[in-house]
Amino acid sequence: MTAALPPFLAACRRQPTAHTPIWIMRQAGRYLPEYRAVRSKVGFTELTRSPELACEVTLQPIRRFALDASIIFSDIMVPIEGMGVALEYAPGPVIGEPVRTMKQIDELRTLVPERDVPFVMEAIKMTRAGLPAHVPLIGFAGSPFTLFSYLVAGKPSKEFSVPRAFAQAEPEISARLMEKLADAMIVYLRAQAGAGAQALMLFESWGGLLGPSDFARIALPPVKRIIDGLKDLGVPLIYFANQCGSNLDSIATLNADVVGLDWRTSLGGARKILGPNKAIQGNLDPAHLFSSPDNLRKRVDEVFADAGPGPGHIFNLGHGIWPETDPDSVARLVDYVHERSAK
Ligand code: CP3
Repeated sequence: MTAALPPFLAACRRQPTAHTPIWIMRQAGRYLPEYRAVRSKVGFTELTRSPELACEVTLQPIRRFALDASIIFSDIMVPIEGMGVALEYAPGPVIGEPVRTMKQIDELRTLVPERDVPFVMEAIKMTRAGLPAHVPLIGFAGSPFTLFSYLVAGKPSKEFSVPRAFAQAEPEISARLMEKLADAMIVYLRAQAGAGAQALMLFESWGGLLGPSDFARIALPPVKRIIDGLKDLGVPLIYFANQCGSNLDSIATLNADVVGLDWRTSLGGARKILGPNKAIQGNLDPAHLFSSPDNLRKRVDEVFADAGPGPGHIFNLGHGIWPETDPDSVARLVDYVHERSAK
C-alpha cells in the first residue's frame, strides 16, 4: 500500500487534499530574525555554498510555521556563477562583466552540476533528510529570459531596458544565450531531482516585461525546452509567471503541472485560460501581510473565492515575502489557510 501523497504534491497533480497546501516564496529570508542571525555571521554567497548553513536556513521557516512545502535555499544566479560568470549580491545580483557577445556566450562553461555547484545537491540531500515526511522539498532555477535579463543588464533593474533592447537589436545572440541557459538549467534541475528535490520550479520573474508576441517568441521557447527536457522525471514542474497575466495564452501551451501567478492576475481568470490540466499557485499580495488579522482573513477569503472550489490550488504569495514582514502575520496566514480550507 502506498502512503497518501503530501497535500502539496497532491495539489500539484490536481488531486483533492484534506486542506489547501501553502508555502511562501522567499520563506527563508530576512523577515526571520533567525535568518538575520545566520547572515550577520556569513555573507550571502558563503551561505549558498555551505550545505550545512543552506540546510539550516531552509529548515528555519518549517520549524516556525505549519508550511506544506520547503524550497531549497539558494539563488537563481548560483548556477550562473558555476558557468564561470563572476558576480556579487548587493543584495540583488551584480555581474562583473555583462554578457553581450557571441564570444562571451561560447566561453560560458557548460554546466556540470556535480563539478560546478556540488554544494547545491549536498544541501538538498541534507535538507531532505531533515524535513518531516509530509513536507516536500522544491528545487528551482531561473527561467532563461530572467537569467538573460541579469546577464545582459549586469545588475538588477525595474524595467530591464538594456536586455529588452538587446533582444530586439541582437535576436540571434539573445536566442543563443537563452538556449545555452536552457540546456544548463535542464542538467541543473535534473541534478536537483536526483539529489531529492520532489518538485522543480522555474522563476520567470521578468518575462512579464514582454508583450504577448515578444513573450511567445523570446521567453517561451527556452522554457518549453526546459519543461520538455524534464518531463520524463515525473516530478511536478512549476512555472512561476510573474506579471504574466497577458501571456497566459502562450503559457497554456506549456507542459507545466503548476502555474504560479502574481496578485495582479485573477486566479479564476487564469484557470479558464490555462484549462483543467494545470494547477495554480498564488497569489496573495505580500502587502496584505501588513493588514490587521481581520482584514488579512478577508483578503485570504478573496483569494480562495477567486481560485474557486476545484482541486489544484496551492496557496502562496504572488511574489516573495517582504523583509519588513512580521513573522506572526505569516503564522496567522498559514493557520487560517489550513483552517478555512479544511475538508
Ligand atoms: O526561500 C526561498 O524562496 C529560497 C531562496 C531564494 C532566494 N532567491 C534567496 C535570496 C530563491 C527561490 C531566490 C530566487 C531568486 N533570486 C529570484 C526569483 C524569485 C523572484 O523574487 O522573482 C530572483 C529574481 C533572484 C535574484 C536575486 N537574488 C535578487 C533580486 C536578490 C535580492 C533580493 C532581495 O530580497 O533583496 C537576490 C539575493 C537573495 N536571494 C536574498 C535571498 C534571501 C537576499 C540576500 C541577503 O540575505 O542579503
